[in-house]
Amino acid sequence: MPAVPFPVLALGAIAAFILQYAISRYRFNKKYKFPNVVPGLPILGNSLQVPFPAAGMWGVETARKYGEMYTCFLGGTTLVFLNSARVVNDLMEKRASIYSSRPYRPLCQDIMSGGVRMLLMPYSDKWRNQRKIMHSILNGQQAETKFVPYQELEAKQLVYDYLREPEKFNVANQAFANSVIMSVVFGRRASIDDPELKAILKAVADLGEYLFNPMKNLVDAFPWLAKLPKPLQWWRPAGEAYFKNAISIYQHELDKLLVKMDNGTARPCFAVDVIQAAEKKEFQIGEHEKLFVFSTLLEAGSDTSRNAITQMVAAAAVYPEWVQKARLALDKVCGANAERLPSLSDRDAVPYMTAVVKETLRWRPFIQTGVPHMLTQDDEYEGYKFPAGTMFTWNAYALALNENDYEDPERFMPERFMNKDLKNPLKGHWSFGTGRRVCVGYNVAQNNMWLAMACLIYCFDFAEDPEHPIDTFNTNWEEWARPPFKVKIKPRSGAHVELINRVSVEALNAHY
Ligand code: HEM
Repeated sequence: MPAVPFPVLALGAIAAFILQYAISRYRFNKKYKFPNVVPGLPILGNSLQVPFPAAGMWGVETARKYGEMYTCFLGGTTLVFLNSARVVNDLMEKRASIYSSRPYRPLCQDIMSGGVRMLLMPYSDKWRNQRKIMHSILNGQQAETKFVPYQELEAKQLVYDYLREPEKFNVANQAFANSVIMSVVFGRRASIDDPELKAILKAVADLGEYLFNPMKNLVDAFPWLAKLPKPLQWWRPAGEAYFKNAISIYQHELDKLLVKMDNGTARPCFAVDVIQAAEKKEFQIGEHEKLFVFSTLLEAGSDTSRNAITQMVAAAAVYPEWVQKARLALDKVCGANAERLPSLSDRDAVPYMTAVVKETLRWRPFIQTGVPHMLTQDDEYEGYKFPAGTMFTWNAYALALNENDYEDPERFMPERFMNKDLKNPLKGHWSFGTGRRVCVGYNVAQNNMWLAMACLIYCFDFAEDPEHPIDTFNTNWEEWARPPFKVKIKPRSGAHVELINRVSVEALNAHY
């Protein structure tokens, strides 16, 4: 029998592949049904359309066009955007047991994070274990007594920094957030240019490049590539080098704490609790895992708090009415003539400030389109059929600006939170996420915000500069050195200047 020429064989193989692909797509499309698919390009789908990570307004416009739910195809991923509180509640909250995973990421999670970075972990026993450890220490009974003194010290530094260099308010907010989270995790303060913390935050920024740029990271967008033999995995050497470097940075910080624990100078903190509990076998945690748990908290707890405080400053300058209300309430407990700074023990006496914190989170959710969760088994909802592996996100900007859920949503209006759920930090907005993956640092976060905002409102006047109107949608998530807007900041009175100078001595002299 004559041999079949190679070109014919190759064409045959390609035709068979295309046929098989078409059949499997046909079967898939018959079996599953997604809500309002946003038109995109062949193969690439909507990958070039969604301007991640600052996709908030794109998400709002698309929700206006496509309604309560819409679907995008991003490389190999199907992402359903949920645009009303109703559908987020129905799926990500009420069905959280199957809507709480993360996708398989061969590069960012398995190689670059040794499979143990919580934020990227699938819903699994390992994730549950890390979550339990974090929750018990950060939100347990001891948490307040352990961490509040750090927050109150850094608040004194914060008002001092605002007084000294008001134009660098964004740097002051970052310094506050950095030093609180470093104290919470490792029991030590950190200056704005602390080299160890800088290295940790740089490592996460580098990871972000791989997370958000499919051109830099094809394998996470098309995970079947990970089946290639190891020598052909072109991404592997860079990923392994990243992991090695990250471990050495994290270990360096831990080694410093171990020396302090040995000589009895370690302060109460998350890492000491973990090390001691692990020694007593209260929970099990691997060595690399421990390092990633510490670094995850540092990464998750710094830029987030800075952004929230910065947004409150914008809201104070643009909507001065609520500031007057908050100030009256603060003056009642701290004195109208600057007797003392607000403290976290004033929370019950000044509920309006708690509403300010929640409204700040609702008003401009800086994680603009949420953090997608992966569905772990096939599911049906209102006539749609979703396969396991579909990603779902709460479309944060679209939810915050949804007129059916919030009256006059563009407006900063803390009153909307003066209700029976006031004291539940997770109710009434989505900025801490949803379901079982909801931010585990919410206690530290809301205390940071409450205290920083109360002290700033109590001590300073904020005003918009008419020559530089504030774009409240410019959250400038990534960068702290340059403020996202200009604002006029002045101390309220000479008495407030004296108060700041008096209380900040403690912060200026605290070296640990
Ligand atoms: C205003 C400040 C903060 C905001 C707005 C915020 C928001 C978020 C969001 C949206 C998520 C993802 C939730 C989801 O996938 O459903 C998250 C996760 C997380 N946050 Fe926060 N966060 C803040 C501060 C903090 C702080 C201070 C810490 C640490 C003390 C922290 C630790 C974490 C951790 C460890 C996770 C991963 C949870 C998991 O995957 O199970 N966050 N946060």
